[in-house]
Amino acid sequence: MKSYYIAALVVFFFNWCYIGKAANGQGSGASFIFGDSLVDAGNNNYLRTLSKANIQPNGIDFKASGGNPTGRYTNGRTIGDIIGDELGQPNYAVPFLAPNSTGNAILHGVNYASGGGGIMNATGRIFVNRLGLDIQIDYFNITRKQIDSLLGPSKARDFIMKTSIFSVTIGANDFLNNYLLPVLSIGARLSESPDAFINDMLTHFRGQLTRLYQLDARKFVIGNVGPIGCIPYQRTINQLKEDECVELPNKLALQYNAKLKDLVTELNENLPGATFVFANVYDLVLDVITNYKKYGFTTSSKACCGNGGQFAGIIPCGPTSSMCSDRDSHVFWDPYHPSEAANLIIAKKLLDGDTKIISPMNLRQLRDH
Ligand SMILES: *[C@@H]1O[C@H](CO)[C@@H](O)[C@H](O)[C@H]1NC(C)=O
Ligand SMILES: *[C@@H]1O[C@H](CO)[C@@H](O)[C@H](O)[C@H]1NC(C)=O
Ligand SMILES: *[C@@H]1O[C@H](CO)[C@@H](O)[C@H](O)[C@H]1NC(C)=O
Repeated sequence: MKSYYIAALVVFFFNWCYIGKAANGQGSGASFIFGDSLVDAGNNNYLRTLSKANIQPNGIDFKASGGNPTGRYTNGRTIGDIIGDELGQPNYAVPFLAPNSTGNAILHGVNYASGGGGIMNATGRIFVNRLGLDIQIDYFNITRKQIDSLLGPSKARDFIMKTSIFSVTIGANDFLNNYLLPVLSIGARLSESPDAFINDMLTHFRGQLTRLYQLDARKFVIGNVGPIGCIPYQRTINQLKEDECVELPNKLALQYNAKLKDLVTELNENLPGATFVFANVYDLVLDVITNYKKYGFTTSSKACCGNGGQFAGIIPCGPTSSMCSDRDSHVFWDPYHPSEAANLIIAKKLLDGDTKIISPMNLRQLRDH
């Protein structure tokens, strides 16, 4: 009798939550993910490109694929996946180029991110192919029309404006695989000062974010560029010591990040009804790298999967790479990308962190905003 009553109460409570959520239009919402290899969930599998992650042992800890590679550039979930899980999305945002990114699946979100992609069109040219941010937004424009036909124009607009989060994680390749490339930058570094290049990037980025706004995006998360001078690749090719980072890439990232923050403030003021959240990925990741022991890692300089030099940072992760035995003990999975263990720490801070890391509100607050 008693347990019956409790069961009924529990059922009532869950129904009430569900109706409550549906009524205020929150639901689990959708995430539309733009960016580079940090959040690519498999788009590059469908491109003829030198930047590929659908090879073992990538994905070895990704439960949804049974440990098989999916095109994610890490051993498990990306930051985008973890945030989707935590915000209650039932499915990972499907890669736009995957055959199953059709029908109702797109209502949980779509992922446009591409390994090697950047803000500038020329970024990542050494990989032969990748989706730059211009093209990623062209693709969202296609999705936008599909949502119109699935929901009807009025519901579609509400769905995009009120329940969808647009995250953009981009910019690192504009330095690593464009401005800082000695030969292939096609002279960008020779003809443009860092200031001019960074201004050019931000002019493009302003236009790109404004295009998303024109397509009804309202809740944005903009990640800044991380400490790219500290990745195993940079530490290895510059033959640094255990606790050193390469100065120039970090300096460029900081210079860009300061101006990006101003751009985010400007867009919050100028685009009515939009909320742009600034994610301070640089400080967050640098803290994990510097204080790795506090977070339970044994190294933040050596890649778990990779080969070459003192930090396994030259040859990308693949079937013939050496792999560490405890993947959760490494901040970096490969010469460029964090491990799932590091992604978990980063994602949790973006979800629940304070304004030093994510401002003016964190992701849980943005969802309910
Ligand atoms: C779409 O396909 C990918 C790869 O084939 C798979 O991992 C994913 O679970 C599928 N997603 C949905 C929502 O069907
Ligand atoms: C970027 O490249 C694509 C082709 O890859 C091209 O269609 C587009 O016009 C280019 N955009 C700019 C601004 O140059
Ligand atoms: C979206 O695509 C349409 C053509 O189908 C075009 O007219 C419009 O300018 C595009 N919008 C954006 C913001 O790119």
